[in-house]
Amino acid sequence: MSFSTNQLSLFVLGTLGLTYPLHAAVNFEKQILPVIETKCLGCHKAPHMENGKLKKPKADLRLDAAWAMLKGAESGPSLVPGNLAKSYMYEVVTLPKDDDMFMPPKGDPLTADEIKLLKEWIENGADFGGWKGNMEGAPKENEPAKPAVVKVREHEVFYKKLEAGVKPADAALIDKAKAGGAQISTLKMDSPLLRADFLTGVSKCTDDSITVLLPLKEQIAQLDLGRTVITDAALKTVAQFPRLAELDLRQTKITDAGLGALTGLKNLQNLNLFGTEVTDAGVKQLAAIKSLETVTLFQTKATAASVKELTAAIPGIKVKLK
Ligand code: HEC
Repeated sequence: MSFSTNQLSLFVLGTLGLTYPLHAAVNFEKQILPVIETKCLGCHKAPHMENGKLKKPKADLRLDAAWAMLKGAESGPSLVPGNLAKSYMYEVVTLPKDDDMFMPPKGDPLTADEIKLLKEWIENGADFGGWKGNMEGAPKENEPAKPAVVKVREHEVFYKKLEAGVKPADAALIDKAKAGGAQISTLKMDSPLLRADFLTGVSKCTDDSITVLLPLKEQIAQLDLGRTVITDAALKTVAQFPRLAELDLRQTKITDAGLGALTGLKNLQNLNLFGTEVTDAGVKQLAAIKSLETVTLFQTKATAASVKELTAAIPGIKVKLK
């Protein structure tokens, strides 16, 4: 048996138990574009004639050019370099398959590997290399690279500020949380900030389980409690994480009553409430969290009325309801 260099280095890293992925930059034209071409462009390219009929892009969204992805459609940009939570084209391919917005609605879904590549590519700044795509229909004064770069920078500045003065967590405390069922990883190399989830045992993750994270409350910036069996009581624990920037509560039993606990979080940018029992009353309370940038309300009981109030209360916020 022979190993390629790549296999070998992965193998070596694996045995050392390193958690960092190898950071070979994703090559857009080689690794992402072919996926978009085969799985998305059938429905999302510039208007063209097909069998004598004019075919327009679905949802008015084109994915056949860099400028078009950045511009997006009705729901805002499809791609925000460096910001996964705001990149709608990532969200729609990771939704549950029975969701109305799951993409592609027909044909093969993205494979786990393709999703991982897309994620890495977006997180690392969505570098198109030299690729521009179809410039037909591009706005004249368009300089897509500029606003994108500004956004990446804003995101970086935010996290830089967030980590200022934070000491790295004690390895023993991290191990203890892991023993309690949590998966913990660093957000970035050299950052003291942490990401936590319970994805290896969501059905066992209760209000009690998440208290194992309390000793790491200064460091945790991203927390995924999606599909766990937590209730509103868990949000009292979550409320004690001063640097929490991303919180995923999708498909949990949390309700409006619990959300009030979150209003003291000063750094919360992204909140995912997909598939919860949250109603307009809960959404109203979110207006107090001025740092919010994205709230996901797919498959909740919230209506356009409270979304309208929330977007009025927090300028620039993006709320996904449909
Ligand atoms: C078979 C046709 C088809 C394919 C293939 C397809 N889509 Fe879509 N897409 C649609 C339709 C139809 C809608 C509108 C759905 C709605 O609003 O209910 C849509 C909407 C979207 C939206 C929301 C746009 C907005 O701002 O409202 C995004 C993002 C999107 N698609 C991304 C993708 C991606 C990424 C792929 C490839 C993985 C893809 N689509 C493949 C038909 C398709």
